Amino acid sequence: MATETLGYKEEMLEYSLPVSSESDNGSTSQSDSDSASTVSDLLPDIPLPPPSKAPTEILSVDLDTPDNHVPRDPRLIRLTGVHPFNVEPPLTTLFKEGFLTSPELFYVRNHGPVPRVRDEDIPTWELSIEGLVENPITLDFRQILQEFDQITAPITLVCAGNRRKEQNQVRKSKGFSWGAAGLSTALFTGPMMRDIIKRAKPMRRAKYVCMEGADKLPNGFYGTSVKLNWVMDPNRGIMLAHKMNGEDLRPDHGRPLRAVVPGQIGGRSVKWLTKLILTDAPSDNWYHIYDNRVLPTMVSPEQSAKEPKWWYDDRYAIYDLNVNSAVVHPQHDEVLRPAKAGPTATYTAQGYAYAGGGRRINRVEISLDKGKSWRLANIEYPEDKYREYESNLFGGKVDMFWRETCFCWCFWNLEILISDLTESDAILVRAMDEALSIQPRDMYWSVLGMMNNPWFRVAVIKDSDTIRFEHPTQPALMPGGWMERVKKAGGDLTNGHWGEVMSNEEVEANNGKAVEEINMKKEGLDRKVDFAEFKAHVSPEEPWFVVNGEVYDGTKFLEGHPGGAQSIVSAAGMDVSEEFLAIRKFHFLYLDGINTNKTTDSETAKAMMPDYHIGTLEKASLKVLHDEAQNQSSLGTPDEKYLQPKVWKKAELSTKRSISWDTRIFTFKLDYDLQPLGLPTGQHLMVKLKDSTTSESIIRAYTPISETNQQGTLDLLIKVYTPTPTEKGGKMTMALDKLAIGDNVEIKGPLGRLTYLGHGKVLLNDKQRDVKSFRMICGGSGITPIYQVLRAVVTNAQDPTHCVVLDGNRMEEDILCREELDSYAALNDERCTIVHTLTKPSGDWKGLKGRIGEELLKQYAPPSADGDSLALICGPEGMETATKAGLLKMGWDENDLVFF
Ligand code: MTE
Repeated sequence: MATETLGYKEEMLEYSLPVSSESDNGSTSQSDSDSASTVSDLLPDIPLPPPSKAPTEILSVDLDTPDNHVPRDPRLIRLTGVHPFNVEPPLTTLFKEGFLTSPELFYVRNHGPVPRVRDEDIPTWELSIEGLVENPITLDFRQILQEFDQITAPITLVCAGNRRKEQNQVRKSKGFSWGAAGLSTALFTGPMMRDIIKRAKPMRRAKYVCMEGADKLPNGFYGTSVKLNWVMDPNRGIMLAHKMNGEDLRPDHGRPLRAVVPGQIGGRSVKWLTKLILTDAPSDNWYHIYDNRVLPTMVSPEQSAKEPKWWYDDRYAIYDLNVNSAVVHPQHDEVLRPAKAGPTATYTAQGYAYAGGGRRINRVEISLDKGKSWRLANIEYPEDKYREYESNLFGGKVDMFWRETCFCWCFWNLEILISDLTESDAILVRAMDEALSIQPRDMYWSVLGMMNNPWFRVAVIKDSDTIRFEHPTQPALMPGGWMERVKKAGGDLTNGHWGEVMSNEEVEANNGKAVEEINMKKEGLDRKVDFAEFKAHVSPEEPWFVVNGEVYDGTKFLEGHPGGAQSIVSAAGMDVSEEFLAIRKFHFLYLDGINTNKTTDSETAKAMMPDYHIGTLEKASLKVLHDEAQNQSSLGTPDEKYLQPKVWKKAELSTKRSISWDTRIFTFKLDYDLQPLGLPTGQHLMVKLKDSTTSESIIRAYTPISETNQQGTLDLLIKVYTPTPTEKGGKMTMALDKLAIGDNVEIKGPLGRLTYLGHGKVLLNDKQRDVKSFRMICGGSGITPIYQVLRAVVTNAQDPTHCVVLDGNRMEEDILCREELDSYAALNDERCTIVHTLTKPSGDWKGLKGRIGEELLKQYAPPSADGDSLALICGPEGMETATKAGLLKMGWDENDLVFF
């Protein structure tokens, strides 16, 4: 029996009085708030609640909602519109409160309306303890206060959605956008849940404690469960609470009674608690099943909606919080003027960290150089101050001396030279707990967007004389934050570099793959070109063309490579902006003559453009050029080749055949039934279509898998790249997949530097060469151009050319054209060797494993001593770059490498 029974009885009377009224000094006038100041005088070393001013006013926004009885603080940021009430305080305001948060600023997560509980009903509020118990009981509020030992403990509650806005920036989850202030700390007072449960005498079979609240929601009352053995373990500190910082619970926080489950996600701390039900299985409450879970990252929202199994798998339910931290100072948009600060001036960065399951945060580290090096921050643990204090506080015993678990946030700080900040592009923070769990660099995205805890990153934006700090996001729909900025600029937030364009140093390390807007105009050139002048320079010898309204002279591309410039000649007299800007890999494009045998990526090509810049085409002339292109008849005659280098031709989708879950063969009709396509072996064509959702024109180069002499139709083999949590998905392949039979795309070609004439004769940049062997290295759908040349060789028994195909894929089912390839290998084992290697093989895979690296290249693609070999390469960018480096290292001549 509790010793302070009488005290509680007196306190009970207060429930018939108004909840709180303001005293002269602005603090609440309830008896325990007064006693707080007494304790504070005696023990100034214990962090006590900040001055609190209970709101008395019903805000006008709440008047038309079921919560029109709940007074609230207007400073709270509403995350789900007006109702239900889900709010976080401004991050800096929360931090300023100190270790404990005043109840009016404490974050709120309500799934529905706040139950209306009248003061006079509180003494008879009932809590039933039922289920697998020998002694089912119902206790009223009075008994809960009077008949059980009361404790007071500081506990941080954290919503599992804290920092979810960051997840939503990467990919919309099913949850609303919490910033980094979805957490608050209070001194909770009430009995231990285990004492209450013991009285009902749990049966041996009982394993779980299900809790239910009084809030009636669309899917029943809110409820969830925790394990019974956790409840019975005093170390876990699971309690019921009727007070917060010495005051009666406020309506939003569960008045009059709630559960408080320290170290676990806030969702387990059921408010307006009415039932404890002991069971042998986890709660079957709708909110327990469909909320508070981290499903595996590859489960998409659509899949999770279709497949209930994900929700019922208890392995994906979340209980203990994970380790997390955030920066509070510098604040979002805070500005520093380094010049005024002097060389030795410092800035103190500050923030919070927490972990779950009672584990202590044992380090917080800061990096200013993208995680290459780390500095150790100082940590303060205000919670520890209570461990020394074994007395009563707010009518409950503070009893933490013996228990070593940490259930509260801690604060970190680090003094940083301002000059160091000016050299950094971001402050990165990560925390580690005593189990050595450490925040990851990369986000683990999941359907509900919960438990988001990657390194907290504050971007440092430099201006001429200031530096400005940018947090990752701002809560709710508030604009701001580097994630939004990067995304708007087209950056990929999942690229491992926070979506930012990399600095020069990294560009080198990444083989020039950075995307930066490159100036394509000649500095200071101010010359207008009219239509007549433009047209006067349109010939195979002088191929002027237009990109983005600017006129360029392609003559220089021809120099030295007269034959290889077929593509630039095709561009003559045309506005080729679309093709130029839409195609990422420049060697697919008209201008692939620029560097002859070298792969010219689009950035290099763009950077060369100022040299060829002639001037700006007059607006009226540009219009004439466009009208001219529009009026060009795209319909040829039946005996004319379908492909026209200067004209986009329409092609109708006639069939679409799925050959695996993500791979299809699209057949397009040419203009006439028996029309020849006109694609030389080894060349490719461009396909253009408008994305039906974004109206954006997309152009990509493809090599059909149909025979080059097939008439009337062409077949494209396409692997559809659907989005995953980490990849955006392929724009073109997804748009193609959306096409209906009868829809049109546009096609132009042929293009390419290589034509295979048969019998080992190759036209490379329009120069004929004799080749004894091809080393064909490809990955994924890069097989298609390779396959076209291979087929030409092996289906002609008279062709003596030797082919080795080194085909890299992830899994066996990713290998395209597998049957055909293997049948060629079986038929022509002398001339044709096919080697597959897989990076993610199944246990049954007997073939090679791993990427196409130097070892495999040495074995299957050695250079020939006589220079009569060509290496044909096609695959993802990274694979092509690595292959090129590997081959050159082995002694291949760059002129013998052909990238499709
Ligand atoms: N209990 C009930 N009855 N209804 C609720 O909507 N929300 C849960 C939990 N308990 C909820 C509840 C969630 S998700 C969280 S994060 C915490 O309450 C939030 O507690 P607070 O609003 O007091 O901060």
